[in-house]
Amino acid sequence: AFYLDVRQSAMAVTRETIGVIGGGQMGSGIAQLAAVAGFDVWLHDSDPGALRRASEGITAALRRLVSKGQLSQPAVSDVLNRLRCTSNLEDLKHSDVIIEAIVESEDVKKKLFSELDKLAKPNAILASNTSSISITRLASATSRPSQVIGMHFMNPPPVMKLVEIVRGADTSDEVFSKIKALAERFGKIIICSQDFPGFIVNRILMPMINEAFYALYSGVATKEDIDTGMKLGTNHPMGPLELADFIGLDICLSIMKVLHQGLGDSKYNPCPLLIQYVDAGRLGRKRGIGVYVYQKEPAKAKP
Ligand code: NAI
Repeated sequence: AFYLDVRQSAMAVTRETIGVIGGGQMGSGIAQLAAVAGFDVWLHDSDPGALRRASEGITAALRRLVSKGQLSQPAVSDVLNRLRCTSNLEDLKHSDVIIEAIVESEDVKKKLFSELDKLAKPNAILASNTSSISITRLASATSRPSQVIGMHFMNPPPVMKLVEIVRGADTSDEVFSKIKALAERFGKIIICSQDFPGFIVNRILMPMINEAFYALYSGVATKEDIDTGMKLGTNHPMGPLELADFIGLDICLSIMKVLHQGLGDSKYNPCPLLIQYVDAGRLGRKRGIGVYVYQKEPAKAKP
């Protein structure tokens, strides 16, 4: 039903352009959503390989929608025609809204926001899909803090219904309303968070995942029993360790660090086992190995 909703909105003629930066798990899904919703989309990644994988992934996802009868073949061609991939950031200069979904590092994101501030149209909105980094601090790298906002999609963006909108200290009401309307055009339900570490969802979710790592680390139970316990005992669709692999252990670790630094409480100390897995390159599904192994010959672990 969700895809039927967005198909209807795709009928509206629009010339608005959305720029998406980062063609990984999240950025590719956001670009797909925006193109299906009828926007012209520029997807940028500094790694051409990531752009190729994103383009293949989006094409495959659209084909699956066709095979399920949720999208027509001509609509797929339209969506793909609206979506352009580029390794040149300059191509995003005509975008009305730019949504950033690059690596979860404050320094790298700040550098990007400062570059975007120089190249984007004066009235363009700069949004970040960050899981945990302060929107106020990202905004401080620009000369337009009232036009900077958090637009936090859940993984995978085309499927998950929620978008958490995060207001920085200076985000204007007008920008908030525009991003709320955009998320609704994507077919999403929105919640609004003030700009505090972890926002709403990760403030609650990540300490639970971290605690599951502590339970595994202290030998309380096997990974399977921890996950089964939380699935059947609390009616969660995925166990916390399985979910951590799905999100990416590097992302989970960086969010725990943000909670620990930002809230100053030792209860947010990242579990040593989580740190060790990340050090070993066991980043979860995206690497074929995390808490669980997903393929016979996992991709070479990167430091
Ligand atoms: P990912 O590692 O799959 O993709 C990140 C992409 O950004 C890579 O393709 C990389 O080449 C590219 N990149 C890195 N630095 C860049 C730069 N300076 N310029 C252009 N491209 C650059 O990461 P993922 O999982 O898609 O996460 C992206 C963002 O979304 C992070 O901020 C993360 O916290 C957030 N997020 C992640 C969720 C998840 O479940 N993985 C859920 C919600 C938000």
